[in-house]
Amino acid sequence: MEYRSLGKTGLKVPEVSLGCMAFGRWIEKEQSFRVMDAALDAGMNLFDTADVYGRGMDNGNPLQSGESEAIVGEWLKDKRDRVIVATKVHGKVGAGVNDSGQSRYHVMRAVDNSLRRLQTDYIDLYQVHRFDEQTPLEESLEALSDLVRQGKVRYIGCSNYAAWQIAKAHGISALNRLHRYESVQPQYSILAREIENELLPFCASEKVGVIVYSPLGRGLLTGKYRQGERPPEGTRGAAGEKRLQVLMQEEGTYDIVGALQPLADERGWTLAQFALAWVLSNPVITSAILGVSRPEQISDALKALPNRLTPEELQAVDRISGGRK
Ligand SMILES: NC(=O)c1ccc[n+]([C@@H]2O[C@H](COP(=O)([O-])OP(=O)(O)OC[C@H]3O[C@@H](n4cnc5c(N)ncnc54)[C@H](OP(=O)(O)O)[C@@H]3O)[C@@H](O)[C@H]2O)c1
Repeated sequence: MEYRSLGKTGLKVPEVSLGCMAFGRWIEKEQSFRVMDAALDAGMNLFDTADVYGRGMDNGNPLQSGESEAIVGEWLKDKRDRVIVATKVHGKVGAGVNDSGQSRYHVMRAVDNSLRRLQTDYIDLYQVHRFDEQTPLEESLEALSDLVRQGKVRYIGCSNYAAWQIAKAHGISALNRLHRYESVQPQYSILAREIENELLPFCASEKVGVIVYSPLGRGLLTGKYRQGERPPEGTRGAAGEKRLQVLMQEEGTYDIVGALQPLADERGWTLAQFALAWVLSNPVITSAILGVSRPEQISDALKALPNRLTPEELQAVDRISGGRK
């Protein structure tokens, strides 16, 4: 495993991090523990979760969120120093009008709830889950900076932000001597390449860490799903994940997956290994957050590391999926 600096900070993070969205949602506690054991053994010592991750994401009940953080917290007890814990705030976690977003009111309550579930007194990377149109950035950044000063949070980051939104936030941080977003967490895979247009050039220029999610296209870039066929048992497709279904229905998805397979075959790699190597071949990417529902998926996905794709292979992928930029 290679470790890279997170943006312009001194923090070193693994090039492959562990996504914890499945915990308490698609997989139970014991299996989640096995996944975390395997991840730490493999050097994937950044764990990404969120206050909303849990069954509530599927059944629409905000009171059933937080299971992922609770499972991570229980596992973490005697290993706190070995893991970089990243979590998020923004989504709806209660029935009240102030139980979501990035107001000072909500951020201050949300962080304490995350710390309680995670059974720790600090979060290494606290990320706002998406842009909040309804709260002034000054208010959120002041609240987040207070958390850093109080020692509850080490670094702050954002997720699902456009380049202009980070630029605006950075300007406010600089003018008001507040902490700045040191990282962004966007979606990025061979099937979802929009960030290549603006966000990645911006992050390279401003030295913002880029921790990307869904590098395997939520499982589509493993070749396990076939057009017109029922998803295999035990997969997220079979569990009915909505955002996976949207990606499946996007025109051309299965053609892209089919055209990539021979490139992976030529290397003697699985499609998952090829898709992950493609993400990590982009020097602007700091870390790819791998989602995992079984420990074996970690050893399988990491097998091709630290190989990078050749310029010829990158061009071949561009011919196949350049339209997804
Ligand atoms: N900030 C945000 O808005 C946001 C949004 C989404 C995700 N995230 C973060 O990013 C993380 C990763 O997202 P993701 O789960 O969508 O990522 P992903 O890595 O694209 O997809 C993970 C899925 O791929 C399959 N898989 C993984 N390794 C495999 C292997 N070696 N062989 C076969 N199949 C394999 C598994 O599917 P099965 O379980 O079906 O076997 C797994 O659930 C999340 O856990 C979360 O932390 C953040």
